Amino acid sequence: MHHIILSSETDFDGWRKAARALALNDIKPFDVTWRVADDAPELFEPTNPPLEPPHGTFNVPAKFVELAEVAILHRNPERFALLYRLLWRLRTHHDLLELATDPDVAEPIAMAKAVRRDERKMHAFVRFREIGREQKSHFVAWFEPEHHIVELAAPFFARRFADMPWSILTPDVCAHWDGHVVSFTPGVSRSEAPGADRLEETWRRYYASIFNPARLKVQAMQKEMPRKYWRNLPEASLIKPLIEGAGRSASAMIANAATEPHKPQKRLEPAKANNKASDEASEMARKQADDIEALREEAADCRACHLYKNATQTVFGEGRQTARIMLVGEQPGDKEDLAGKPFVGPAGQMLDRALQEAGIDRRTVYVTNAVKHFKFVPRGKIRLHQKPNTPEIKACRQWYERELAAIRPDLVVAMGATAAQSVFGKITPINKNRGHTIDLPDGTRALVTVHPSYLLRLPDADAKAREYRRFVQDLEIAADVLRKSAHAA
Ligand code: URA
Repeated sequence: MHHIILSSETDFDGWRKAARALALNDIKPFDVTWRVADDAPELFEPTNPPLEPPHGTFNVPAKFVELAEVAILHRNPERFALLYRLLWRLRTHHDLLELATDPDVAEPIAMAKAVRRDERKMHAFVRFREIGREQKSHFVAWFEPEHHIVELAAPFFARRFADMPWSILTPDVCAHWDGHVVSFTPGVSRSEAPGADRLEETWRRYYASIFNPARLKVQAMQKEMPRKYWRNLPEASLIKPLIEGAGRSASAMIANAATEPHKPQKRLEPAKANNKASDEASEMARKQADDIEALREEAADCRACHLYKNATQTVFGEGRQTARIMLVGEQPGDKEDLAGKPFVGPAGQMLDRALQEAGIDRRTVYVTNAVKHFKFVPRGKIRLHQKPNTPEIKACRQWYERELAAIRPDLVVAMGATAAQSVFGKITPINKNRGHTIDLPDGTRALVTVHPSYLLRLPDADAKAREYRRFVQDLEIAADVLRKSAHAA
């Protein structure tokens, strides 16, 4: 029997070295035990039969190394053995990773997914508290991760809060940033974490301001923000009263709404003129199998371009799967990045107002962005929005296409140049194309208009009023399409 002792819960290099030596010596998985060294060595440390120094070599797919690096951070104590078994089998079955139903493949994949999900939760739910003031201020947060993700998640906080010294305390390990390097110290108990400070009120005010009673889905919300995180969130004290008050506020919003809820309407079916079209139709059908919630889960792990590195989270589209209109913006802004929802900041308020004036109930439309991660440059405490470039728009287009296939709206409204580039698959000038609908190759109609942030940026009040009017007029075209397709149904 071989007893491998790794130096820590996250000792991937140690595992890799040992696994390689074991595999090269042809040691079977059930002849190996794995554990992590604890501070007190055991009275009788097991002895290992000698291993030949590893010579020779074998290849495993790069995908395996990527998977193992993440799965090893799972809290399952069997993970080292599981990964060794998979490595052992991969030596002779190179395509094994393609067999997603094989338990030796499925389990590490599920573990890696759980680790990534935990990492996202940490990005979203760490709340710093300020200790000391001015020159001496330091920001400290308490977090209880489900898996061993602190080292994995720490670089994100170093990039995001580059100019403030912070510490994230957890029961496993603590991460510290001094403005130059991230360092780690052993874990601590919750009692060592600081209590409330003046940042709490800011969080509460911010949360209350983005809370929309009409869009409240308690189950989805609890899935995104599970109860176990609540006790560390300053805004948690608001959640219960806001949910309780939501019924009342939503009825008030419905009473004030300009239009009746729209009836279910007929969907445009893709044309089937020739083989190519029918291939496209079956591809379309495959894509339609996507359910928006499943897509949202999948997109949460998107690494198709570099923007995920600095953003808090993927901000996926939101709205009913049966929506007849799909509104596409550019990318989430600062507030959307924090809230994880599209158009909840100032541009969202402008959009809500214009939709209402055009006679469209926001609750009936699907709202999304061409690019799903916030792109910005830090300027002191502010994050300055940056326009996404063509490779970023292209990398993200898969999500727009899959949302489109899942929703199959009658009309897509592209707001601004980035959205138009994504919707049409090429640069499409706004002014030349606005004012009328344009047919897309798949039969969906598209409408081009300006982005609501453009209206916010206009310095001159007259121009602002005039452009706002034009924006509402464009949305009225959308309302008209809705009415006509409702009659045709
Ligand atoms: N601007 C966008 O394009 N999308 C948002 O979600 C917010 C601001």
